[in-house]
Amino acid sequence: MADRPLKVVVLAAGKSTRMKSDTPKVLHKLAGLPVLQWVLEQADAMGAQETIVVVGHEGERVREKFGKRANTRFVTQEPQHGTGHAVMQAREALAGFNGDVAVLCGDVPLIRPRTLELLRHMHISEEAACTILTALLPEPRGYGRIVRDGLGRVRRIVEQRDLAPQQEAIQEINTGTWLYDCTKLLSVLDKLDTDNAQGEYYLTDTVRLLADAGNRVAACACDDHTEVMGINNRKQLAEADKLARERILDELMIEQGVSVYQPESCYIEAGCSIGRDTVIWPHSVIRAGVVIGERCEIGPFAHLRGGTKLGNDCKVGAFVETKNAVYGDGTKSGHLAYLGDVTLGSGVNIGAGSIVANYDGKAKHHTEVGDNAFIGCGTVLVAPVKVGKNAQTGANTVVPHGKDVPDDTIVVGAPARELRKKS
Ligand code: UD1
Ligand code: CA
Repeated sequence: MADRPLKVVVLAAGKSTRMKSDTPKVLHKLAGLPVLQWVLEQADAMGAQETIVVVGHEGERVREKFGKRANTRFVTQEPQHGTGHAVMQAREALAGFNGDVAVLCGDVPLIRPRTLELLRHMHISEEAACTILTALLPEPRGYGRIVRDGLGRVRRIVEQRDLAPQQEAIQEINTGTWLYDCTKLLSVLDKLDTDNAQGEYYLTDTVRLLADAGNRVAACACDDHTEVMGINNRKQLAEADKLARERILDELMIEQGVSVYQPESCYIEAGCSIGRDTVIWPHSVIRAGVVIGERCEIGPFAHLRGGTKLGNDCKVGAFVETKNAVYGDGTKSGHLAYLGDVTLGSGVNIGAGSIVANYDGKAKHHTEVGDNAFIGCGTVLVAPVKVGKNAQTGANTVVPHGKDVPDDTIVVGAPARELRKKS
Protein backbone atom coordinates (compact mmCIF):
# COMPACT_ATOMS: atom_id res chain seq x y z
CA MET A 1 0.00 0.00 0.00
CA ALA A 2 2.77 2.36 0.95
CA ASP A 3 4.28 2.11 -2.52
CA ARG A 4 1.32 3.92 -4.07
CA PRO A 5 2.23 7.60 -3.72
CA LEU A 6 -0.19 9.86 -1.90
CA LYS A 7 -0.83 13.56 -1.70
CA VAL A 8 -3.37 15.11 0.65
CA VAL A 9 -5.51 18.17 0.02
CA VAL A 10 -6.97 19.80 3.12
CA LEU A 11 -9.94 22.13 2.64
CA ALA A 12 -9.65 25.03 5.04
CA ALA A 13 -10.78 28.09 3.14
CA GLY A 14 -14.45 28.28 4.10
CA LYS A 15 -15.97 31.37 5.68
CA SER A 16 -17.10 29.46 8.78
CA THR A 17 -20.28 31.56 8.81
CA ARG A 18 -21.97 29.28 11.33
CA MET A 19 -19.16 29.76 13.86
CA LYS A 20 -20.00 33.48 14.05
CA SER A 21 -16.35 34.24 14.70
CA ASP A 22 -13.56 36.56 13.56
CA THR A 23 -11.18 33.62 13.87
CA PRO A 24 -11.17 31.06 11.05
CA LYS A 25 -12.81 27.82 12.14
CA VAL A 26 -9.67 25.75 11.65
CA LEU A 27 -7.78 27.90 14.16
CA HIS A 28 -10.30 27.35 16.94
CA LYS A 29 -8.88 25.09 19.63
CA LEU A 30 -9.85 21.47 20.11
CA ALA A 31 -8.40 19.97 23.30
CA GLY A 32 -5.88 22.80 23.24
CA LEU A 33 -4.67 22.39 19.64
CA PRO A 34 -5.99 24.17 16.54
CA VAL A 35 -8.61 22.12 14.70
CA LEU A 36 -6.40 22.17 11.59
CA GLN A 37 -3.51 20.59 13.47
CA TRP A 38 -5.60 17.50 14.11
CA VAL A 39 -6.32 17.23 10.38
CA LEU A 40 -2.69 17.81 9.38
CA GLU A 41 -1.74 15.00 11.74
CA GLN A 42 -4.22 12.75 9.91
CA ALA A 43 -2.39 13.63 6.68
CA ASP A 44 0.96 12.79 8.29
CA ALA A 45 -0.42 9.48 9.59
CA MET A 46 -1.46 8.57 6.04
CA GLY A 47 2.14 9.04 4.92
CA ALA A 48 1.41 11.91 2.55
CA GLN A 49 4.39 12.92 0.43
CA GLU A 50 2.90 16.42 0.30
CA THR A 51 -0.04 18.14 1.98
CA ILE A 52 -1.72 20.98 0.14
CA VAL A 53 -3.77 23.22 2.40
CA VAL A 54 -6.40 25.35 0.68
CA VAL A 55 -6.83 28.58 2.63
CA GLY A 56 -8.98 31.62 1.96
CA HIS A 57 -11.01 33.34 4.63
CA GLU A 58 -8.39 34.81 7.01
CA GLY A 59 -5.89 32.64 5.15
CA GLU A 60 -2.89 34.71 6.24
CA ARG A 61 -3.51 33.76 9.84
CA VAL A 62 -3.63 30.09 8.93
CA ARG A 63 -0.43 30.32 6.89
CA GLU A 64 1.30 32.15 9.70
CA LYS A 65 0.39 29.44 12.18
CA PHE A 66 1.34 26.44 10.02
CA GLY A 67 3.68 27.96 7.41
CA LYS A 68 6.76 26.17 8.73
CA ARG A 69 5.44 22.61 8.55
CA ALA A 70 7.47 20.17 6.50
CA ASN A 71 6.02 18.90 3.17
CA THR A 72 3.15 21.37 3.41
CA ARG A 73 2.12 23.78 0.70
CA PHE A 74 -0.55 26.47 0.91
CA VAL A 75 -2.77 27.54 -1.95
CA THR A 76 -5.32 30.33 -1.82
CA GLN A 77 -8.97 30.11 -2.76
CA GLU A 78 -10.36 33.60 -3.21
CA PRO A 79 -13.33 33.98 -3.29
CA GLN A 80 -14.70 30.75 -1.83
CA HIS A 81 -17.09 29.09 -4.26
CA GLY A 82 -17.47 25.71 -2.57
CA THR A 83 -15.54 22.52 -1.83
CA GLY A 84 -15.14 21.60 -5.52
CA HIS A 85 -13.79 25.07 -6.25
CA ALA A 86 -11.40 24.67 -3.31
CA VAL A 87 -9.93 21.48 -4.81
CA MET A 88 -9.60 23.27 -8.19
CA GLN A 89 -7.05 25.57 -6.50
CA ALA A 90 -4.83 22.54 -5.89
CA ARG A 91 -4.88 21.58 -9.58
CA GLU A 92 -1.41 22.94 -10.27
CA ALA A 93 0.01 21.15 -7.24
CA LEU A 94 -1.55 17.90 -8.45
CA ALA A 95 -0.84 18.19 -12.19
CA GLY A 96 0.99 15.15 -13.54
CA PHE A 97 0.91 13.36 -10.19
CA ASN A 98 0.56 9.67 -10.72
CA GLY A 99 -0.90 8.46 -7.44
CA ASP A 100 -3.81 8.91 -5.08
CA VAL A 101 -5.14 12.10 -3.58
CA ALA A 102 -6.88 12.17 -0.23
CA VAL A 103 -9.17 15.13 0.32
CA LEU A 104 -9.76 15.94 3.99
CA CYS A 105 -12.07 18.57 5.41
CA GLY A 106 -10.31 21.00 7.70
CA ASP A 107 -13.33 20.86 10.01
CA VAL A 108 -13.49 17.06 10.50
CA PRO A 109 -10.68 16.52 13.00
CA LEU A 110 -11.39 13.28 14.87
CA ILE A 111 -10.90 10.58 12.24
CA ARG A 112 -8.50 7.96 13.52
CA PRO A 113 -5.44 6.81 11.55
CA ARG A 114 -6.84 3.27 11.53
CA THR A 115 -9.99 4.45 9.72
CA LEU A 116 -7.93 6.24 7.08
CA GLU A 117 -5.89 3.07 6.65
CA LEU A 118 -9.07 1.07 6.01
CA LEU A 119 -10.23 3.71 3.52
CA ARG A 120 -6.96 3.42 1.64
CA HIS A 121 -7.09 -0.34 1.72
CA MET A 122 -10.55 -0.44 0.20
CA HIS A 123 -9.65 2.16 -2.43
CA ILE A 124 -6.76 0.05 -3.63
CA SER A 125 -8.41 -3.37 -3.37
CA GLU A 126 -11.53 -2.19 -5.20
CA GLU A 127 -9.48 -0.35 -7.82
CA ALA A 128 -11.85 2.57 -7.37
CA ALA A 129 -11.59 5.95 -9.06
CA CYS A 130 -12.97 7.44 -5.88
CA THR A 131 -13.60 6.03 -2.40
CA ILE A 132 -15.75 7.99 0.02
CA LEU A 133 -15.52 7.62 3.76
CA THR A 134 -19.13 7.30 4.82
CA ALA A 135 -21.03 6.73 8.05
CA LEU A 136 -24.49 5.68 9.09
CA LEU A 137 -25.79 8.40 11.35
CA PRO A 138 -28.88 8.20 13.50
CA GLU A 139 -29.24 11.96 12.96
CA PRO A 140 -27.97 12.61 9.40
CA ARG A 141 -29.36 16.14 9.08
CA GLY A 142 -26.90 18.64 7.64
CA TYR A 143 -24.66 16.11 5.90
CA GLY A 144 -24.56 15.13 2.22
CA ARG A 145 -26.42 11.83 1.66
CA ILE A 146 -25.15 8.85 -0.32
CA VAL A 147 -27.55 7.83 -3.08
CA ARG A 148 -27.21 4.27 -4.40
CA ASP A 149 -28.85 2.54 -7.35
CA GLY A 150 -30.91 -0.67 -7.28
CA LEU A 151 -27.72 -2.74 -7.32
CA GLY A 152 -26.35 -0.90 -4.32
CA ARG A 153 -23.75 1.02 -6.34
CA VAL A 154 -22.93 4.57 -5.23
CA ARG A 155 -24.33 6.96 -7.83
CA ARG A 156 -24.27 10.43 -6.33
CA ILE A 157 -24.22 12.56 -3.20
CA VAL A 158 -27.03 14.97 -2.48
CA GLU A 159 -26.45 17.86 -0.12
CA GLN A 160 -28.92 18.60 2.66
CA ARG A 161 -30.28 21.68 0.93
CA ASP A 162 -30.79 19.85 -2.36
CA LEU A 163 -32.54 16.77 -0.92
CA ALA A 164 -35.80 15.57 -2.37
CA PRO A 165 -38.30 14.87 0.45
CA GLN A 166 -37.97 11.08 0.06
CA GLN A 167 -34.15 11.37 0.42
CA GLU A 168 -34.33 13.03 3.86
CA ALA A 169 -34.47 9.61 5.51
CA ILE A 170 -31.16 8.39 4.03
CA GLN A 171 -28.84 7.81 6.95
CA GLU A 172 -25.69 7.03 4.99
CA ILE A 173 -23.71 10.25 4.87
CA ASN A 174 -20.59 11.71 3.29
CA THR A 175 -17.99 12.42 5.96
CA GLY A 176 -16.13 14.81 3.64
CA THR A 177 -13.11 12.48 3.56
CA TRP A 178 -12.11 11.14 0.17
CA LEU A 179 -9.58 9.17 -1.78
CA TYR A 180 -9.26 9.74 -5.51
CA ASP A 181 -7.11 8.43 -8.26
CA CYS A 182 -5.45 11.76 -9.06
CA THR A 183 -5.92 11.50 -12.83
CA LYS A 184 -9.61 10.67 -12.43
CA LEU A 185 -10.14 13.55 -10.03
CA LEU A 186 -8.53 16.02 -12.41
CA SER A 187 -10.61 14.64 -15.30
CA VAL A 188 -13.88 15.66 -13.66
CA LEU A 189 -12.95 18.81 -11.71
CA ASP A 190 -13.53 21.07 -14.72
CA LYS A 191 -16.96 19.57 -15.27
CA LEU A 192 -18.37 20.72 -11.94
CA ASP A 193 -21.05 23.37 -12.10
CA THR A 194 -22.96 25.56 -9.66
CA ASP A 195 -26.41 24.26 -10.44
CA ASN A 196 -27.51 23.64 -6.83
CA ALA A 197 -29.26 25.31 -3.90
CA GLN A 198 -26.10 27.09 -2.72
CA GLY A 199 -24.80 28.10 -6.18
CA GLU A 200 -21.41 26.54 -5.34
CA TYR A 201 -19.03 24.09 -6.99
CA TYR A 202 -19.63 20.97 -4.91
CA LEU A 203 -16.84 18.41 -4.63
CA THR A 204 -19.61 15.90 -3.96
CA ASP A 205 -20.69 16.16 -7.63
CA THR A 206 -17.49 14.36 -8.65
CA VAL A 207 -19.28 11.17 -7.54
CA ARG A 208 -22.04 11.55 -10.12
CA LEU A 209 -19.59 12.58 -12.84
CA LEU A 210 -17.25 9.66 -12.18
CA ALA A 211 -20.02 7.08 -11.77
CA ASP A 212 -21.85 8.29 -14.91
CA ALA A 213 -18.61 7.92 -16.88
CA GLY A 214 -18.47 4.25 -15.84
CA ASN A 215 -15.90 4.53 -13.05
CA ARG A 216 -16.08 2.61 -9.83
CA VAL A 217 -16.97 4.71 -6.78
CA ALA A 218 -16.55 2.83 -3.50
CA ALA A 219 -17.85 3.70 -0.05
CA CYS A 220 -15.98 2.75 3.09
CA ALA A 221 -18.18 2.91 6.17
CA CYS A 222 -16.71 4.21 9.40
CA ASP A 223 -18.54 2.41 12.20
CA ASP A 224 -17.67 4.90 14.93
CA HIS A 225 -19.71 7.96 14.12
CA THR A 226 -17.98 10.04 16.79
CA GLU A 227 -14.94 10.11 14.47
CA VAL A 228 -16.61 11.76 11.55
CA MET A 229 -18.41 14.70 13.07
CA GLY A 230 -17.87 18.02 11.34
CA ILE A 231 -17.45 21.22 13.31
CA ASN A 232 -19.73 23.89 11.90
CA ASN A 233 -20.81 25.80 15.00
CA ARG A 234 -19.68 26.34 18.59
CA LYS A 235 -21.91 23.60 19.94
CA GLN A 236 -20.28 21.06 17.65
CA LEU A 237 -16.88 22.46 18.65
CA ALA A 238 -17.74 21.76 22.29
CA GLU A 239 -18.96 18.25 21.43
CA ALA A 240 -15.82 17.45 19.45
CA ASP A 241 -13.66 18.88 22.23
CA LYS A 242 -15.36 16.58 24.72
CA LEU A 243 -14.81 13.55 22.48
CA ALA A 244 -11.16 14.47 21.94
CA ARG A 245 -10.53 14.81 25.67
CA GLU A 246 -12.28 11.53 26.41
CA ARG A 247 -9.79 9.87 24.06
CA ILE A 248 -6.91 11.56 25.87
CA LEU A 249 -8.23 10.36 29.25
CA ASP A 250 -8.70 6.81 27.93
CA GLU A 251 -5.14 6.78 26.64
CA LEU A 252 -3.77 8.00 30.00
CA MET A 253 -5.78 5.57 32.10
CA ILE A 254 -5.61 2.49 29.88
CA GLU A 255 -2.22 2.78 28.18
CA GLN A 256 -0.12 4.99 30.46
CA GLY A 257 -1.06 3.78 33.94
CA VAL A 258 -2.27 7.13 35.21
CA SER A 259 -5.08 7.21 37.81
CA VAL A 260 -7.67 9.88 37.14
CA TYR A 261 -10.38 10.19 39.73
CA GLN A 262 -13.73 11.53 38.52
CA PRO A 263 -12.23 11.90 35.04
CA GLU A 264 -15.26 13.71 33.64
CA SER A 265 -14.38 16.66 35.88
CA CYS A 266 -10.75 16.84 34.68
CA TYR A 267 -9.83 18.87 31.61
CA ILE A 268 -6.68 17.48 30.00
CA GLU A 269 -5.57 18.81 26.62
CA ALA A 270 -3.65 17.10 23.84
CA GLY A 271 0.08 16.56 23.66
CA CYS A 272 0.70 16.07 27.39
CA SER A 273 2.99 13.40 28.75
CA ILE A 274 2.07 11.96 32.15
CA GLY A 275 4.10 9.24 33.84
CA ARG A 276 3.01 5.96 35.35
CA ASP A 277 1.43 5.90 38.81
CA THR A 278 0.71 9.60 38.78
CA VAL A 279 -2.64 10.37 40.41
CA ILE A 280 -4.92 13.16 39.21
CA TRP A 281 -7.65 14.28 41.58
CA PRO A 282 -10.96 15.82 40.44
CA HIS A 283 -11.35 19.22 38.78
CA SER A 284 -7.79 19.50 37.55
CA VAL A 285 -6.88 21.36 34.36
CA ILE A 286 -3.78 20.29 32.43
CA ARG A 287 -3.02 22.33 29.34
CA ALA A 288 -1.45 21.24 26.04
CA GLY A 289 2.13 20.04 26.15
CA VAL A 290 2.50 19.79 29.93
CA VAL A 291 4.96 17.12 31.07
CA ILE A 292 4.44 15.27 34.37
CA GLY A 293 6.77 12.57 35.66
CA GLU A 294 6.00 9.34 37.49
CA ARG A 295 4.27 9.05 40.89
CA CYS A 296 3.18 12.69 40.98
CA GLU A 297 0.04 13.92 42.65
CA ILE A 298 -2.07 16.57 40.92
CA GLY A 299 -5.10 18.39 42.30
CA PRO A 300 -7.83 18.49 43.27
CA PHE A 301 -8.42 21.87 41.56
CA ALA A 302 -4.92 22.27 40.13
CA HIS A 303 -4.22 24.31 37.00
CA LEU A 304 -1.08 23.30 35.10
CA ARG A 305 -0.54 25.71 32.23
CA GLY A 306 1.79 25.69 29.22
CA GLY A 307 5.47 25.04 29.82
CA THR A 308 4.92 23.19 33.09
CA LYS A 309 7.35 20.31 33.46
CA LEU A 310 7.39 18.16 36.58
CA GLY A 311 10.00 15.55 37.48
CA ASN A 312 9.09 12.39 39.40
CA ASP A 313 7.35 12.33 42.80
CA CYS A 314 6.16 15.94 42.58
CA LYS A 315 2.99 17.48 43.95
CA VAL A 316 0.82 20.26 42.57
CA GLY A 317 -2.02 20.39 45.05
CA ALA A 318 -5.30 22.16 45.59
CA PHE A 319 -5.65 25.62 44.00
CA VAL A 320 -2.11 25.71 42.70
CA GLU A 321 -1.54 27.33 39.30
CA THR A 322 1.69 26.77 37.40
CA LYS A 323 2.96 28.29 34.14
CA ASN A 324 6.41 27.75 32.58
CA ALA A 325 7.30 26.07 35.84
CA VAL A 326 9.95 23.37 35.97
CA TYR A 327 9.98 21.15 39.06
CA GLY A 328 12.90 18.90 39.99
CA ASP A 329 12.21 15.45 41.44
CA GLY A 330 10.34 15.38 44.73
CA THR A 331 9.38 19.06 44.66
CA LYS A 332 6.04 19.85 46.25
CA SER A 333 3.58 22.74 46.14
CA GLY A 334 0.67 21.50 48.18
CA HIS A 335 -1.81 24.35 48.40
CA LEU A 336 -2.86 27.76 47.12
CA ALA A 337 0.08 28.99 45.09
CA TYR A 338 0.93 30.72 41.80
CA LEU A 339 4.22 29.61 40.28
CA GLY A 340 4.97 31.29 36.95
CA ASP A 341 8.25 31.40 34.96
CA VAL A 342 10.17 29.55 37.61
CA THR A 343 12.71 26.75 37.86
CA LEU A 344 12.52 24.80 41.09
CA GLY A 345 15.32 22.39 41.98
CA SER A 346 14.69 18.98 43.50
CA GLY A 347 13.25 18.46 46.97
CA VAL A 348 11.87 22.00 47.14
CA ASN A 349 8.86 22.70 49.34
CA ILE A 350 6.57 25.59 48.45
CA GLY A 351 4.46 26.65 51.43
CA ALA A 352 0.74 27.40 51.19
CA GLY A 353 -0.15 30.78 49.74
CA SER A 354 3.23 31.44 48.13
CA ILE A 355 3.48 33.41 44.93
CA VAL A 356 6.11 34.06 42.30
CA ALA A 357 5.42 37.61 41.14
CA ASN A 358 6.71 37.10 37.59
CA TYR A 359 5.16 40.17 35.98
CA ASP A 360 6.19 43.73 36.77
CA GLY A 361 3.49 45.33 34.64
CA LYS A 362 5.70 45.43 31.54
CA ALA A 363 7.60 42.16 31.21
CA LYS A 364 7.77 38.65 32.63
CA HIS A 365 10.89 37.64 34.57
CA HIS A 366 12.38 34.35 35.62
CA THR A 367 12.91 33.00 39.14
CA GLU A 368 15.12 30.18 40.33
CA VAL A 369 14.87 28.18 43.53
CA GLY A 370 17.72 25.82 44.45
CA ASP A 371 17.54 22.18 45.58
CA ASN A 372 15.96 21.50 48.97
CA ALA A 373 14.96 25.13 49.53
CA PHE A 374 12.03 25.64 51.88
CA ILE A 375 9.69 28.48 50.92
CA GLY A 376 7.57 29.47 53.94
CA CYS A 377 3.83 30.07 53.79
CA GLY A 378 2.77 33.29 52.13
CA THR A 379 6.19 34.06 50.61
CA VAL A 380 6.30 36.39 47.62
CA LEU A 381 9.31 35.97 45.33
CA VAL A 382 9.49 39.08 43.15
CA ALA A 383 11.11 38.11 39.84
CA PRO A 384 13.83 38.12 38.71
CA VAL A 385 15.35 36.57 41.80
CA LYS A 386 17.26 33.50 42.96
CA VAL A 387 16.82 31.54 46.14
CA GLY A 388 19.86 29.40 46.92
CA LYS A 389 20.12 25.71 47.70
CA ASN A 390 18.85 24.65 51.08
CA ALA A 391 17.76 28.24 51.83
CA GLN A 392 14.61 29.04 53.76
CA THR A 393 12.08 31.89 53.89
CA GLY A 394 9.89 32.59 56.91
CA ALA A 395 6.13 33.03 56.74
CA ASN A 396 5.05 36.13 54.79
CA THR A 397 8.54 36.93 53.53
CA VAL A 398 8.81 39.22 50.52
CA VAL A 399 12.01 38.64 48.54
CA PRO A 400 12.49 41.74 46.30
CA HIS A 401 13.73 41.36 42.75
CA GLY A 402 17.46 41.10 42.42
CA LYS A 403 17.93 40.44 46.17
CA ASP A 404 19.06 36.85 45.82
CA VAL A 405 18.98 34.62 48.86
CA PRO A 406 22.33 32.82 49.32
CA ASP A 407 22.59 29.05 49.84
CA ASP A 408 21.91 27.70 53.36
CA THR A 409 20.46 31.00 54.57
CA ILE A 410 17.23 31.80 56.38
CA VAL A 411 15.54 35.09 55.47
CA VAL A 412 12.43 36.65 57.01
CA GLY A 413 10.29 39.77 56.72
CA ALA A 414 9.23 42.24 54.07
CA PRO A 415 11.60 43.09 52.52
CA ALA A 416 13.53 39.94 53.35
CA ARG A 417 16.55 40.20 55.67
CA GLU A 418 18.96 37.53 56.72
CA LEU A 419 18.04 35.89 60.01
CA ARG A 420 20.92 33.42 60.15
CA LYS A 421 22.82 30.74 58.30
CA LYS A 422 21.50 27.23 58.61
CA SER A 423 23.68 25.02 60.67
C1 UD1 B 1 -19.47 19.11 3.36
C2 UD1 B 1 -19.94 18.19 2.22
C3 UD1 B 1 -21.02 17.25 2.78
C4 UD1 B 1 -20.46 16.47 3.95
C5 UD1 B 1 -19.87 17.40 5.02
C6 UD1 B 1 -19.10 16.58 6.03
C7 UD1 B 1 -19.78 19.40 0.08
C8 UD1 B 1 -20.50 20.17 -0.95
N1 UD1 B 1 -20.48 19.00 1.14
O1 UD1 B 1 -20.59 19.89 3.76
O2 UD1 B 1 -21.44 16.36 1.76
O3 UD1 B 1 -21.49 15.68 4.51
O4 UD1 B 1 -18.93 18.33 4.44
O5 UD1 B 1 -18.67 17.33 7.12
O6 UD1 B 1 -18.60 19.12 -0.10
N2 UD1 B 1 -14.33 24.87 2.20
C9 UD1 B 1 -13.38 25.51 1.43
N3 UD1 B 1 -13.80 26.35 0.44
C10 UD1 B 1 -15.11 26.57 0.17
C11 UD1 B 1 -16.07 25.91 0.97
C12 UD1 B 1 -15.64 25.06 1.97
O7 UD1 B 1 -12.18 25.34 1.63
O8 UD1 B 1 -15.40 27.34 -0.75
C13 UD1 B 1 -13.86 23.99 3.29
C14 UD1 B 1 -14.37 24.46 4.65
O9 UD1 B 1 -13.44 25.34 5.24
C15 UD1 B 1 -14.51 23.15 5.42
C16 UD1 B 1 -14.78 22.12 4.33
O10 UD1 B 1 -14.39 22.70 3.10
O11 UD1 B 1 -13.31 22.82 6.09
C17 UD1 B 1 -16.25 21.72 4.28
O12 UD1 B 1 -17.03 22.87 3.99
P1 UD1 B 1 -18.41 23.16 4.70
O13 UD1 B 1 -18.96 24.42 4.18
O14 UD1 B 1 -18.28 22.99 6.17
O15 UD1 B 1 -19.28 21.96 4.08
P2 UD1 B 1 -20.50 21.18 4.73
O16 UD1 B 1 -21.73 21.99 4.52
O17 UD1 B 1 -20.17 20.77 6.10
CA1 CA C 1 -18.55 21.20 7.58
